[in-house]
Amino acid sequence: MNNNRQAIGVFDSGYGGLTILNEFLKELPEYDFIYLGDNARSPYGTRSYDVVYDYTLQAVEQLFSMGCELVILACNTASAKALRTIQQCDLPKINPNKRVLGVIRPSVEEIGLLTESKHVGVFGTVGTVRSNSYPLEIKKLFPDIKVIQEACPMWVPLVENNEFHTEGGRYFIKKNIDNILKRDPEIDTIILGCTHYPLLREEIRKFLPDNIQLISQGEIVANSLKDYLVRHPEMDVRCSKNSAIEFFTTEFVDSFEEKASRFLNLSLRARHISY
Ligand code: DGL
Repeated sequence: MNNNRQAIGVFDSGYGGLTILNEFLKELPEYDFIYLGDNARSPYGTRSYDVVYDYTLQAVEQLFSMGCELVILACNTASAKALRTIQQCDLPKINPNKRVLGVIRPSVEEIGLLTESKHVGVFGTVGTVRSNSYPLEIKKLFPDIKVIQEACPMWVPLVENNEFHTEGGRYFIKKNIDNILKRDPEIDTIILGCTHYPLLREEIRKFLPDNIQLISQGEIVANSLKDYLVRHPEMDVRCSKNSAIEFFTTEFVDSFEEKASRFLNLSLRARHISY
């Protein structure tokens, strides 16, 4: 990226954040983006608070050093476990003018408008579910909504290893769907509370009754970012707009390029990074 470009940083533990980036490219096509996938240390979902916080802070600092003024944690696990500490404790020391935003709050703001039965399901990683971020945030905005969470520890590895269209993959997908519906048959809306999961959408839909709406976060987060940039013109002017995108991975470049090209449906080049 040319040095006078100030791209918006998009971070995920691996490929999941591409489902968010994909919507950013549709909603904000003129902006520059840098995508960083920490594929070498993915998944984050089963790791402790301290580890996810350390890894996420390293990624944010890396993106800042590449010129990003604004970083989106396109990862629920990082948003649940690291966002608040980074915003409250680290940013004031690193650079109080830079910003880091997550994906949970915008998703929660939408969810209350979508459910009629007021029974909402959340599929997430073990880390996101244990953090209770969704129930806590939903309770603040919509106290009458009942939230039922289901941790799906096998789903991210299914995506990262491209095993989700297989019989074995379907077994794990169905198992978590059956679990959540058994626990609350009144659920009418389920949020995919992990940015990897929209890649499983087709398979999930096969096992979910038609009357249950399945919500992906990409569009919601993209609209929320667009709105944020309108409400914060001082940040908007600091984000460069040349429609340039760069990709970085902490793992093998060739497998990142192959999978990310497939997920985004565009041919791309990535670079390896270690930090
Ligand atoms: N995409 C991340 C999330 O939204 C992933 C999880 C992981 O690395 O386990 O939670």
